[in-house]
Amino acid sequence: LLETLPPIESDSLLALIAMANADERPEKIDVGVGVYRDGEGRTPILRAVKAAEQRLWEAQESKGYLGGFGDRRFTELLRSIVFGEHAGDDRIMGIQTPGGCGALSLGFKLVAAANPKARVLVGTPTWPNHMPVIEAAELEIVRYGYYDRDQRIIRFDEMMSMLDGARSGDVVLLHGCCHNPTGADLDDDQWADVARTMAHRGLVPFVDIAYQGLGRGLDEDAGGLRGILAACDEVIVAQSCDKNFGVYRDRVGSLHLKTARRGSTGLAMDHVAQIAREMWSMPPDHGAAAVRTVLENDDLRADWLAELGEMRDRINRIRSAIAAADPRLAYIGRQFGMFSMLPFDAVQVRQLRERSAIYMADSGRFNVIGMADEAVSRFIAAIVEAMNG
Ligand code: LMR
Repeated sequence: LLETLPPIESDSLLALIAMANADERPEKIDVGVGVYRDGEGRTPILRAVKAAEQRLWEAQESKGYLGGFGDRRFTELLRSIVFGEHAGDDRIMGIQTPGGCGALSLGFKLVAAANPKARVLVGTPTWPNHMPVIEAAELEIVRYGYYDRDQRIIRFDEMMSMLDGARSGDVVLLHGCCHNPTGADLDDDQWADVARTMAHRGLVPFVDIAYQGLGRGLDEDAGGLRGILAACDEVIVAQSCDKNFGVYRDRVGSLHLKTARRGSTGLAMDHVAQIAREMWSMPPDHGAAAVRTVLENDDLRADWLAELGEMRDRINRIRSAIAAADPRLAYIGRQFGMFSMLPFDAVQVRQLRERSAIYMADSGRFNVIGMADEAVSRFIAAIVEAMNG
C-alpha cells in the first residue's frame, strides 16, 4: 500500500529549518523560518510565560481532559485582545486550536462543510502553507496578485477589482497584520475599502492573524480585523499566540466565528466542534494554559505587554537599519512584522547560502528578526553585495 505513494516535495520552510540546523559554520545567519531572536540570537521563553509555567506546575493538580473546546477561559481572555470593542459581541464564539495552522485547517473545513463549492480568494504571494491547507479542504482557490515585487507595493487596484468581481458567498483570505511573506500591510483607508466592499458584495472574510502586536501595536494590528467585524455579518478568524507569546512549539491558537445571529454562530460552532473532534479530538493544553495564566494575572499581563513591546521595537529597529543602508532597501522600513522579501531569485538565495551561510526562503523572504545584533551589519553587507550582482 504505502509503496504506491508518489514522491512529494517537502514543505520548503521545513526543509530550510533542517538545512540551517545542519550548517555548522559559526558565521551562519538563519533568517528562514519565522521565530523571534533577541540581540544574542536566542529565541527566549518570555519572562511572563516562564513565570506562568511555574505557577501552573505548582498549582495544576490534574491532566484530565478539558473537552473539545480546550481551555474556555483562554478563549474568553483572548476576546478583548483580538476583538477590542467587539469583545462583548455575543455573536462571536471561539474554540482553542493547535496553533494558527490548526485554526486555518478547521476554518476551511467548516467552509467546505457549509458549501463545498465555495471559492477562496487568495492574494499571492502568501504563506506557503495556506494553499495546501485550503486544498486539503477541497475548496477551489482563486488567486490574484497582492504584491508587486518590482515596485514593492500592494497591488491594491487588482485586489479591489477581484473583490468587486467576486461572487456572493466567496471566502476571502486576509492577513490581519504583518503580512507573511511580504510585510506589506493594508493601510487604514485600504482596510476600510476592503471591509465596505466585502459587506456590500456578501463576501466572507477569513482573517488570519498570527502576528498581532509585532507590527504597529497590539490594538493597531487588529484594527483591520475590527473594521471587518463592524462591517460584515459573517467573519472567520484564525488566530495564533505562537509568535506574540513566543510559544511556537506549544501550538497555541484559536478559531473564532461571527455570524449575523447568535443562534447561527452556535450552530456553526457545533459543526466546528465535530470537525475538531475528527482532526485532533482535543487541543493540547499546556501552551494555552500558560497564555491564560499570563492574561488573568495583572502583573504577568503587564510584563508580557512590555516584552511584546521590546520584540516589536527590535523588529522595527532592524527594519530601520536595513532600510537606511541602501535606497533600494528603503521599502523595508515601510513594512511590518517579521518578514519582508528581498529582490532575489532562488539562484541568488542559494549563492547567499553557500557563500555567506545566510539562510532565507527561496522566494527571497527573510525573517527580519532572525539575526543577532552582531550579524546585522554582515547581513546588510552580504545582501547589498548580492544586489550589486
Ligand atoms: C513561517 O512562516 O516561517 C512561520 O509561520 C512558521 C511556519 O509554520 O511556517
